[in-house]
Amino acid sequence: MQSDRRLVNIALIGFMGTGKTSVGRLVAEQLRFEYLDTDELIQAQTGRSINDIFKTDGEPAFRALEQQIVEELAGHTNTVVATGGGLPVNPKNLASLKTHALVVSLWSSPEKIWERVRHQGHRPLLHDADPQAKIRELLAARGPFYKQADVLLNTDLRSVREVAQQLVHQFRLEASGRR
Ligand code: S3P
Repeated sequence: MQSDRRLVNIALIGFMGTGKTSVGRLVAEQLRFEYLDTDELIQAQTGRSINDIFKTDGEPAFRALEQQIVEELAGHTNTVVATGGGLPVNPKNLASLKTHALVVSLWSSPEKIWERVRHQGHRPLLHDADPQAKIRELLAARGPFYKQADVLLNTDLRSVREVAQQLVHQFRLEASGRR
C-alpha cells in the first residue's frame, strides 16, 4: 500500500447483497465512527428514491450524483461508508476513496447474493426478466474493480459479526501510524 495515504475512514465496496450495510453499521459501532451510505446520501440530497432517479433520469445521471458524493466524502474523518455496488466501476471514485480510506471489498457468490436480495425491490438493476443472470453478468464485469480494494473479505461463510471483527482488526493494524 502506498505510504502517503491517510487512513482515517473505511470504505466498503462490493456487489449488492454482499453485506456492506450490516457489516458497515457494526464496524462503525465498534470503532465509534459515523456510518454513512452513498445511496442514502443521494436520496437525502435529491429527495428522491434510487429507483426514481434511474427511471426518470437514467443510470448516467445517478452515476454523476455518486461521483459528487464520493468527492464530498474526502472531507470526512472517522467514518465508515458503505458504497453502492456500481460505484467502484468509475476509477475516479476508487482513486478518491483511497486517498482517505482503507478500501474493503466484500465478496459473495452469485447464489448467496440472490438469496439475500430476492425479496427486496429497491434495486433498479435487478428489475430484470432474469435477475439471477443479471447478477452473474454484472458480478463478472465488476470483479476486476472490486479486486482493486486494499482488503478482500468473503462474506459467504462468516457471520456479519465475524467479518466486522476481522475488518476492525485489519483497520487498526493498517491505520496505526497513518492517521
Ligand atoms: C447499484 C447498487 C445499489 C444502488 C443502485 C445501483 C449497482 O446499491 O447504488 O441500485 O449498480 O450495483 P447497493 O449495492 O447498496 O445495493
